[in-house]
Amino acid sequence: MIRAKITLAVLIFYGGIEYFMKVTVFNGSPRGKRSNSHQIVEPLLEGAREAGAETEEVFLIEKDIKHCLGCFACWEKTPGKCAIKDDMEELIELFLESEYVGLATPVYGMLMTAVLKNFTDRLLPLAMPHIEKNEDGGFYHEGRVRHMPRQFFIANAGFPGEHNFDLLKPYIGMQSMVLEVYRNCGEALQPGENDPPELLEQIALFKAALKEAGRQMVEKGAVSKETVEKIHVALISDEDYMAQANEYWDEQIEKADQ
Ligand SMILES: Cc1cc2nc3c(=O)[nH]c(=O)nc-3n(C[C@H](O)[C@H](O)[C@H](O)COP(=O)(O)O)c2cc1C
Repeated sequence: MIRAKITLAVLIFYGGIEYFMKVTVFNGSPRGKRSNSHQIVEPLLEGAREAGAETEEVFLIEKDIKHCLGCFACWEKTPGKCAIKDDMEELIELFLESEYVGLATPVYGMLMTAVLKNFTDRLLPLAMPHIEKNEDGGFYHEGRVRHMPRQFFIANAGFPGEHNFDLLKPYIGMQSMVLEVYRNCGEALQPGENDPPELLEQIALFKAALKEAGRQMVEKGAVSKETVEKIHVALISDEDYMAQANEYWDEQIEKADQ
């Protein structure tokens, strides 16, 4: 908590009350810094920084995060504290000192990566054990902490089309995110030398919209419908993407044969 107060960079003034803002993204791609997920996270955090926030991207693959044991020690013996000693202790601290937390993942088997899922399972100490019922008949656990960060979600899929987000969208939709990014054709985000200028142009527009989203989140607490629409404009036609991807795989297989 002390760290939260002294490290946070920006003061935002609302009616004389000052508070700090930190935006943190937990990137669940096994590719870490080389990931397409990082290509999406980077401009968004750049926008947040330009609006005055302190930002951080954590590459979860580089962290020691063991699997949740389901022992419920964090609910019984040591309320709010996990029994496992690994990097999650400091990551939960970072999670809680952030005003906004982003979860980024490539689509793996229609879902998030095991890396990100493992991280979210280990957030269990932040929930209370008792089962509550909400007005629409659903059940939930009350949060243990008074201030939970607002969250946003970033997914990128290797396939074209929207179908690969069909399972993630309803799951993520239940969690009232500030922003949800569903980027198809994710492998086009790191273009090769021979890529057409139209693709490069679309990628530049995509990144500019992400930057704007980061800025709006910090300045206004919300991302406009127009910006969300710009983020989801197609980068390339499904057919062109398929053709490029299949050509790439043929080349790779041929190289590996030599
Ligand atoms: C194990 C595995 C499973 C995958 N499953 C899917 C999938 O179900 N749908 C999809 O569109 N892409 C799938 N992909 C492709 C990735 O989503 C794609 O390569 C993505 O751009 C990688 O992003 P990253 O660089 O951020 O990790 C899969 C890739 C791997 C390695």
